[in-house]
Amino acid sequence: MGTPSIQIGPSILTTDFLRLGDQIAEAEAAGVDYVHIDIMDGSFVPNISIGLPVLAAVRRATRLPLDVHLMMVDPERYVDAFADAGADVLTVHVEATRHVYRALERIAEAGLRPGVTLNPGTALTTVEDLLPIVDQVLLMSVNPGFGGQRFIPATLGRIRRLTAMIADAGREIPIQVDGGINATTIAAVRDAGATKVVVGSALFDGRTPVADGMARLRAALADDGPVTADGPD
Ligand code: DX5
Ligand code: ZN
Repeated sequence: MGTPSIQIGPSILTTDFLRLGDQIAEAEAAGVDYVHIDIMDGSFVPNISIGLPVLAAVRRATRLPLDVHLMMVDPERYVDAFADAGADVLTVHVEATRHVYRALERIAEAGLRPGVTLNPGTALTTVEDLLPIVDQVLLMSVNPGFGGQRFIPATLGRIRRLTAMIADAGREIPIQVDGGINATTIAAVRDAGATKVVVGSALFDGRTPVADGMARLRAALADDGPVTADGPD
């Protein structure tokens, strides 16, 4: 029926870290498109997750693209370190640095693909002048810091408005959405214009096989989605 496709990347935040290598292998076998790695500093967000050694270990475990989401203050300090540890895409929050333009330039100079992200309450206009220099825009659909939270429905309207903004800029930049994505929300997010999603607890819960979670997501996409949280424009 010609529905657009969407790339799915598991967030390792909610995995069983004792079985990380197996979980990555399972995800790869289940056909995920990339792996999302959440770095939290306990300052920008109220949680602390993992750091460079774990990223380097994941790099050794898979050839899939590694999409690194930095939830840390002044991320420009660590661009080279994340490049050395094996990141492919490096995404920074506009709220986390006074010099987001410079941070994004540094990421590109390090040979990585720069991504920019916004918390749910941050105006979309803050990325407008960054569109010429980014390879990805991530819209947070929860307040960052924890896996397993509920999707914020207003994100759907933001995806639609960002889609228009990117078209106006004359670029083709993937829109990624992160937080609360599961079989109930994924189709609405795809239909609004997102081209990549991050899925944490609906793929990695430490118990359910990743392939089962992927099958549920694919079924929801094929069904054209059970829910549209805020209806058409
Ligand atoms: C939240 C993280 C997300 C999170 C997603 O701060 O950026 O990547 O792990 O987990 P779920 O899919 O469970 O909301
Ligand atoms: Zn994330």
